[in-house]
Amino acid sequence: MCGIVGYVGKKAALPILMNGLRRLEYRGYDSAGVAIVGESLRIVRSVGKIQSLDDRLFGEKMIGFMGIAHTRWATHGVPSEANAHPHTDCRGNIALVHNGIIENYRELKEQLESAGHAFRSETDTEALVHLIEHLLKYPGTTLADAVRSAVRRVRGTYGIAVVRAEEPGRVVVARLGSPIVIGVGGGELFVASDANAIIGHTRRVIFLDDGEMAVLGLDGYQISSLDNLPIAKEPEDLEWTAEAAQKNGYPHFMMKEMSEQPEVLRNTMRGRLNAKNGNAVLGGLRDVADQAREIDRLIVVGCGSAYYAAQVGEYMLEEYAGIPVEVELASEFRYRKPIITSRTAVIAVSQSGETADTLAAIREAKMKGALTLGIVNAVGSTIARETDAGVYSHAGPEIGVASTKAYLSQVTVFALLTLFFGRQRQMSLSTGKRIAKELVRLPELVTSLLERTNEYRAVAQRYAWAEDFLYMGRKYCAPAAFEGALKLKELSYVHAEGYAAGEMKHGPIALIDEGFPSMVLCPVDSVYEKTKSNVEEIRARRGKVIAITTEGNNEMSRLADDVLYLPKTLEMLVPVLMAVPLQLFAYHAAVLRGFDPDMPRNLAKSVTVE
Ligand code: G6P
Repeated sequence: MCGIVGYVGKKAALPILMNGLRRLEYRGYDSAGVAIVGESLRIVRSVGKIQSLDDRLFGEKMIGFMGIAHTRWATHGVPSEANAHPHTDCRGNIALVHNGIIENYRELKEQLESAGHAFRSETDTEALVHLIEHLLKYPGTTLADAVRSAVRRVRGTYGIAVVRAEEPGRVVVARLGSPIVIGVGGGELFVASDANAIIGHTRRVIFLDDGEMAVLGLDGYQISSLDNLPIAKEPEDLEWTAEAAQKNGYPHFMMKEMSEQPEVLRNTMRGRLNAKNGNAVLGGLRDVADQAREIDRLIVVGCGSAYYAAQVGEYMLEEYAGIPVEVELASEFRYRKPIITSRTAVIAVSQSGETADTLAAIREAKMKGALTLGIVNAVGSTIARETDAGVYSHAGPEIGVASTKAYLSQVTVFALLTLFFGRQRQMSLSTGKRIAKELVRLPELVTSLLERTNEYRAVAQRYAWAEDFLYMGRKYCAPAAFEGALKLKELSYVHAEGYAAGEMKHGPIALIDEGFPSMVLCPVDSVYEKTKSNVEEIRARRGKVIAITTEGNNEMSRLADDVLYLPKTLEMLVPVLMAVPLQLFAYHAAVLRGFDPDMPRNLAKSVTVE
C-alpha cells in the first residue's frame, strides 16, 4: 500500500527520501513522487518503479534540506503521473502526500471548485491540499493551523505529510487510521508511514496516535491534538535493525525470510516455554491472566495468511484447551452483528498490526465490551497498541509481500496460547509437557525441510505447465491447504483452490482431469485413511497428485505421482512443517514462471485501506 517518507534536517533531503522510498517498495505501489523545499518547492513524479522516478530526477535541481516523498498504490484514479503524490495546490506552493481515503472528497472538491480551485488529478487526496490552500487565505494562518482545520473537515482515513514553500524547515504531519511514525535523529527529524523507511537513520521513534498531528522542524517536534492541545510524547527505541530488512545475498526477500524460519521460531518461543510445567509464560498476558481464566469463548479475526494461521489455532485451542473458538475474516466481523459477552475474548492476528479490516474488527469488539488480544509482529503498531494485551510474534521485519515467516510465527503463538489457556483449564501436566517438548524440536525440523529446497524446485518444474491447482487436507491440514493455495495463487498467478478434503466430492472433483493437478496434504495422522481415499479418487479420474506425507510412509509413492516428506511431529504442529514445502513450491513456481515473488502484481504488503 502507499508509503510516506519525509525529512527535515541539515543534510540533502533527496537521497534520504529516495532511499526511504526504496525501503518501502516491498509494500507494493504503482507510482512514486518526491517534493523538495529549497529556494522554491519542486516536485517530480513518475509512474512505475522507483528507478523510473530516479531517471526522471536526472538533471532536476532538487536541492534542499527538507522534503516529502510517496509511493502510491492506486485506489481513486489509475496509476498516472497526474495521480501520483505529492499533490499540490493551485499555485504549486504546498505539497502533500497522503495514505488512506478521503471519503467526502467529492463534496469538498465541488465546494473548492466553485471557490475557483482547479483540480488536476482524479484522486481523493487532491481535495485536501486545495482545502489547506483555501484555509491559508485567512491572515495569520500557518500551515499547521490550516492542516488542523482541514483534517477536521475530512471524513475517512489519513496519514499525511505536508510542506509549504513559504515555511521552509517545517513538515506538518497528521494521522487518523493510517500510521505515521516520527524518527528522531541528532538535529534532524524523519517521518514515515512505516519504520522500515527510516530505520537506517535512527531507531528512536514516536508513533502518532489517531487524532494527533505534529509539526517537525529544525528546532524539534511539537505534537498536538486536533483541538490544538499539546501532547507530550517521548521517543521509544525500535528493536528492529536496518540489516534485518536487507536481502543479505539472497535472490529475494522471500527466500531470505523462509530461510530465517528456524531462527524465527526460536525467537517466538524464547523465554516463553516452561518445559517443567508444560506451560507457556506469556509476559504480554500477565495483566489479563485472571480475566483470561474466566473467558468462555474466543473469536479470532484476521485477513489473508493471518486468517489461516487463526484457523490452525482454532483446532489447537478447541482440542487441547477446550475453549470454543470461532475464526472470522476481519472484513466480515466488522459489519455483521457478532454476539459478544463480557466473557468473550477477541484476538486479532496481524503481521503489520495495521490492516484496516482487522483494526476495525478489534475496535468493534472493544466497543462491545470484549477483552481484546493481539498476535502482532510489528512492535508499536496500531493493533498492538489498541488491544488490551497480547503476544508479539517476534518474526522480525517481513518484506516479501506473501507472508512466510510471520505466518509460521503466528501458528507458533497459537500453540503457546493453547498451552496458556489449556493449562488454566483442563490440560494435564503430561499433555502440556508433550506439546512443549515437541515445540522445542520445531526449529531443527524446519531446518531439515529447508535443506530440501531443490526437491521442491524439481517438483515445481514438473508442474510448470499447470494453470490450475487444487490443494486439499483434513483437520489441521485443511487450513494448511488454504494457506498453500494462497501462496501459489499470489506468487505465481496459477489458479489454486484450497479445500477441506471432505468437500472434494461436493464440487471440486468435477474439475479433476489430467490437466488439473492436486496437492494433497496427507501426513500420517488421525485422518490419514480418509485423505488417502481422496488421493485414490483423484487418481481414478486421471488427476495428477503431489502428496505431502510423513517420512516412512511408503505407500504414497505407489499412489501419488510425486511425494514430498515431512518429519514426524504432533498432529497439531504439522501445519508449521507443512508450510515449508508449500512456500518453497510456490516460490519456485513463481520464479520458474518469470515472476518476482517479492512483489506480486496488484498486491500490497499491508492493506491499510478497506
Ligand atoms: C496482505 C498480505 C498478506 C497478509 C494479509 C494480512 O494481504 O499480502 O500476506 O497475510 O495482508 O496482513 P497482516 O499484516 O494483518 O497480517
